[in-house]
Amino acid sequence: MKAIIPVAGLGTRMLPATKAIPKEMLPIVDKPMIQYIVDEIAAAGIKDIVLVTHGSKNSIENHFDTQFELESTLETRVKRQLLDEVRSITPPGVNIMHIRQGKALGLGHAILSAKPMIGDDDFVVVLPDVLIDNLASNPAQDNLAAMVQRFNDNAACQIMVNPVPKERVSNFGVVDVNGSSLSSGQFARIQALVEKPATADAPSNLAITGRYVLHKNVWKQLAATTPGVGGEIQLTDAIAGYLHAGGAIEAYHIADRTFDCGDKLGLAMAYVEHALRHKDIGQEFAEFLRGLKV
Ligand code: G1P
Repeated sequence: MKAIIPVAGLGTRMLPATKAIPKEMLPIVDKPMIQYIVDEIAAAGIKDIVLVTHGSKNSIENHFDTQFELESTLETRVKRQLLDEVRSITPPGVNIMHIRQGKALGLGHAILSAKPMIGDDDFVVVLPDVLIDNLASNPAQDNLAAMVQRFNDNAACQIMVNPVPKERVSNFGVVDVNGSSLSSGQFARIQALVEKPATADAPSNLAITGRYVLHKNVWKQLAATTPGVGGEIQLTDAIAGYLHAGGAIEAYHIADRTFDCGDKLGLAMAYVEHALRHKDIGQEFAEFLRGLKV
């Protein structure tokens, strides 16, 4: 199966940082956000990744490309460790492809733009703003990897969900699992899903969290989906269409925490946590934090 990462969004929540730099290239310590996302997909066993991109996002393509000049300079200066790090930006055996989204018509449209590179096949969607922590989970086994495994076993579409406070549900797609109480790593059948409902209309507090494993019949629904919330072609609406046509969909409760890195607070939290865990700077950074008056 191939994975699609839509990276054509303008990153308005992170302005002015994202005026000239794609939000996906903002660093969390020494790696840009998009590299964590590609690593997660590779750990789940997926080798082909399609980035749906925009003219202003060339630095993402450059990041995953070979940079001969840099590599030969590092080689001459015998910077072995840095050279290895630069060469392993794209995980071994992974192909990264790019396609442009001609118009900004919404997430569903961005995904549909990748169809020529996927063909009439099942596919995975990963939204790059959502960074999954893997302190309490194993990316080769939990989360996206578990969803792919489950899809291979029962052919039901898989959507990752995460409980959010009731007053925040209107920021997300929300699923109805018929009142089932889900705990980490569990699956439940989805009865309905709705994009950004009003708080009073939300069927639960289980928010869609940026990881999907989708049946190839979702393509037909995507092609037929008309603009929904915000005047945008919504992926949630296409998946709801698949459900109404008799398709099976399951919710998977995330096995760990997430950081919403499309947001200033989420990115700051992700940065601090990753800096604290970093092998080179973690200890000194912890001492620095202990000395802060907050
Ligand atoms: C998108 C999806 C939404 C999902 C959210 C977080 O919304 O449309 O269903 O809950 O991502 O993964 P956006 O944040 O692009 O408005």
